[in-house]
Amino acid sequence: MKTRITELFGIKHPIIQGGMHYVGFAELAAAVSNAGGLGIITGLTQGTPEKLAKEIARCRQMTNKPFGVNMTFLPSLTPPNYEEMFRAIIAGGVTVVETAGNNPQKWLPMLKDAGVKVIHKCTSVRHSLKAERIGCDAVSVDGFECGGHPGEDDIPNFILLPRAADELTIPFVASGGMADARSLVAALSLGAEGINMGTRFVATEEAPVHPNVKQAIIDASELDTALVMRPLRNTERVLKNAAVTRLLEKEKTLGDKLAFEDVIDEVAGIYPKIMADGDMDAGAWSCGMVAGLIDDSPSVEALIKRIMVEAEEIISSRLSGFSAAAS
Ligand SMILES: Cc1cc2nc3c(=O)[nH]c(=O)nc-3n(C[C@H](O)[C@H](O)[C@H](O)COP(=O)(O)O)c2cc1C
Repeated sequence: MKTRITELFGIKHPIIQGGMHYVGFAELAAAVSNAGGLGIITGLTQGTPEKLAKEIARCRQMTNKPFGVNMTFLPSLTPPNYEEMFRAIIAGGVTVVETAGNNPQKWLPMLKDAGVKVIHKCTSVRHSLKAERIGCDAVSVDGFECGGHPGEDDIPNFILLPRAADELTIPFVASGGMADARSLVAALSLGAEGINMGTRFVATEEAPVHPNVKQAIIDASELDTALVMRPLRNTERVLKNAAVTRLLEKEKTLGDKLAFEDVIDEVAGIYPKIMADGDMDAGAWSCGMVAGLIDDSPSVEALIKRIMVEAEEIISSRLSGFSAAAS
């Protein structure tokens, strides 16, 4: 399938694997890129610029296809060395960067000079337009359904995507709630040029996470996520578990007085415990409502193939059957 996104990134299928903390290692990124999508290594998970450089080199050994690196900008008392991380990305010959969390403007000149394409992930039309204005090549429009940080506007993709299509000139992909061929075709209908998936890619053979994580996603229904940290204006969609129940209880009790220190036990440093150790109640971890549509853990190649084959079927058979020309 050819879209503005496949053309922009030099990939076969318009399917991107979003950056995911402690999930986006070389194994998954390479599997997605080898299957014709765009795999993405999660920059901050690697910890240091040197380790990121090694992960990029490891990914390069596993695939000769384009892949990207996610750089998430988070408020932090001890910010990571973003400058050196971007240098490692450029030196590693990476052709795509997915930015998220904050405005990437400061880094665009060095990325552009090196010929790196930038796709910025954001949760509103106004932020998408800002990304376009500052020179990003594409946007990943993340609806309210998404796993991770949906922002504070709470606009689901059925509204957000056509709004983005009305306003944007640069191409965009639909992110949040995307799982299968139906998602892809719907996203294309709403004006997107492809899809970005997070939660769906966690439940795959190649995702380098504990089997308990994949099983938790398979077992979950669309009712099993919750929004946490809203009082801190740092809303995150996570899978419900014992830690999340505790966290929500604190939010209810403390109300407006809630501070980050109050929730630190439930949110800080928990990803290795969940993703590597499979300790599923260790804390709050990002998961999308789309878990309700996921009931298997196929290989990445089988998943992407299934999406593309079924999408063609939906377009050429189901949709064309509705067209006036067919009746
Ligand atoms: C376990 C997990 C960790 C994530 N970590 C990050 C991250 O570090 N940086 C980022 O930009 N997005 C992160 N995301 C968001 C995804 O890249 C993607 O935007 C989101 O999952 C899309 O929604 P979906 O889960 O419904 O597909 C994470 C998502 C999940 C499920």
